[in-house]
Amino acid sequence: MILFITGTPGTGKSTVASLLKEKTGLRLIDLNQLINDEELYTGIHEEWKYKIVDLDALCQSLNNIIADLKDQEDLLVEGHLSHFCKGADVMVVLRAHPDILRKRLKNKGFPEKKINENIEAEALDVCAFEAFQTYGDKTNEINTSDKKPEEVADIINKIMIGEEYLPVGQVDFFDYLIT
Ligand SMILES: Nc1ncnc2c1ncn2[C@@H]1O[C@H](COP(=O)(O)OP(=O)(O)OP(=O)(O)O)[C@@H](O)[C@H]1O
Ligand SMILES: [Mg+2]
Repeated sequence: MILFITGTPGTGKSTVASLLKEKTGLRLIDLNQLINDEELYTGIHEEWKYKIVDLDALCQSLNNIIADLKDQEDLLVEGHLSHFCKGADVMVVLRAHPDILRKRLKNKGFPEKKINENIEAEALDVCAFEAFQTYGDKTNEINTSDKKPEEVADIINKIMIGEEYLPVGQVDFFDYLIT
């Protein structure tokens, strides 16, 4: 079973994925780390200093890892670009209400402009929509807004073992756009 976790920055992918790794012993690939370790970027953004990721190289590297998996070996992959790569049996999109996401991204030290970009994308379901475009019914979404990371990890565990299925379309943050 190969499970990818995606979601707007700040939705809790890294927090939840490390809890899952602790709990299940699953092998975990953190795409941000892979991008750094293998220098899978084409440059650095002049103003914002973030790395401009080489998406083709990232997906190629991830596909190589997947191709090298032993039979029946499970894999967890987390990163906000994961849904652009092929290879998942199950895709999970973490969601968080824009007001909550703003607080989390502020705590992470994101600049105001980046916070606004991300919370607007979250309100418009961008990540869930993109993931659904590639992965269709294999895509689940979890609203983390009122859940502890441990609860989110438990839900993903249930999705992995087939006890839970949370199709895209149940999370709605449009209230944020009209109020
Ligand atoms: N379910 C949750 N409830 C409350 N806080 C959470 C939850 N999940 C994560 N957080 C907090 O939100 C912050 C962002 O989480 P985290 O770094 O795991 O997000 P991320 O999705 O990996 O972001 P990025 O894409 O930038 O790597 C952290 O401070 C974390 O403690
Ligand atoms: Mg992270």
